[in-house]
Amino acid sequence: MNPLNPPKRLLMGPGPSMVAPRVYAAMAKPIVGYLDPYCLEIIGDIQQMLRVAFGTKNEFTIPISGTGSAGMEAAIANFTEPGAKFAVFANGFFSDRITEMARRQGGNVVRFEKPWGEVYGDAEAADFIRREKPQVVAYVQAETSTGAFQTGKAICQAAHDAGALVIADCVTSLGGIPVEVDATGIDIAYSCSQKGLSCPPGLSPFTVSPRAWAWLEKRAAPVQSWYLDLRLLDTYFRGRKYHHTISISLLYALREGLALAVEEGMEARWERHRRNHLAFVAAIEKMGLRMHVAEPKNRLWTLQSPRVPAGVDDAKVRKRMLDVDGIEILGGFGQLAGQVFRIGLMGSSSTEENIALVLDSLQKAMQAETVTAGKG
Ligand SMILES: Cc1ncc(COP(=O)(O)O)c(C=O)c1O
Repeated sequence: MNPLNPPKRLLMGPGPSMVAPRVYAAMAKPIVGYLDPYCLEIIGDIQQMLRVAFGTKNEFTIPISGTGSAGMEAAIANFTEPGAKFAVFANGFFSDRITEMARRQGGNVVRFEKPWGEVYGDAEAADFIRREKPQVVAYVQAETSTGAFQTGKAICQAAHDAGALVIADCVTSLGGIPVEVDATGIDIAYSCSQKGLSCPPGLSPFTVSPRAWAWLEKRAAPVQSWYLDLRLLDTYFRGRKYHHTISISLLYALREGLALAVEEGMEARWERHRRNHLAFVAAIEKMGLRMHVAEPKNRLWTLQSPRVPAGVDDAKVRKRMLDVDGIEILGGFGQLAGQVFRIGLMGSSSTEENIALVLDSLQKAMQAETVTAGKG
């Protein structure tokens, strides 16, 4: 076999983002066993730093084995009983995935639908919950398919008044945007390792409020998933007994990714993401493009979704950027197929230098493709 030689890419899409050099270095360190005191110490470090990143005091804060979708499935499988009413704020691809998972768990799903890119106002969100009286409410804080940020306080307040638990998808916010689990009132939050935390994919940071944990303790119906049963996972994370063989190399990676965030300081890190997002928007508007999410306050700092100008084939532009400059960005899909570019400014990738590189490459690719299309 030839030596392994992956192409050099600048990952500026919706994830994975660039892995920090310190994280790569950590992954080459010798592994230890899953019950080795050193492994348990690393898990302790991760739990402590995840609480800081999530903005929570929740004791049950762990890395789940698997990507962001594993966190999503764990949240839904554990907190959806067959026949229970499950309310979804449905304004993008990932709320559709939540819908599908909740239905597979036997949930009676009700949806508040909005066009992709729009968000929910406080009053309409609370009305929906008061009307439906669900057992579980789910929303996507950072919708990667559209670039929209959803605030959660009104949702959580109305849900708690109705006796419901709230699941928030924080896959594209953790490490780049304040998640504020406790201040918002979120009961169950999950994320991923490969975006704002600058690690490879493979772990899903996860946290559960004491209120949700108390509900889970009383849950009568067994959780359909054995691997993602949180009470069984607790026998490892708190009980120090075998459940499954967690990837120690990924734990090393996450520990270092989180250390970078904590050493930078969460406030400073969020400010860097905010500043670079604003610089990106100013520059792309100067290029004549406009952002898909109309209201500036509803835009994600981590994921930019400028609209594809009329007459431009986004797939050809993206292919040229990859082929010529080695830069990955992605396009829209579902309702937004062909309509937006999706450009990530996440974790270590959120830098002024990367903004300049990606916009220069985008501009050249759009020019080249427009000229080519004109000739054709
Ligand atoms: C908002 C959101 N939720 C869930 C997921 C699923 O995460 P993964 O692809 O890591 O399984 C993603 C992935 O990009 C996402 O952006």
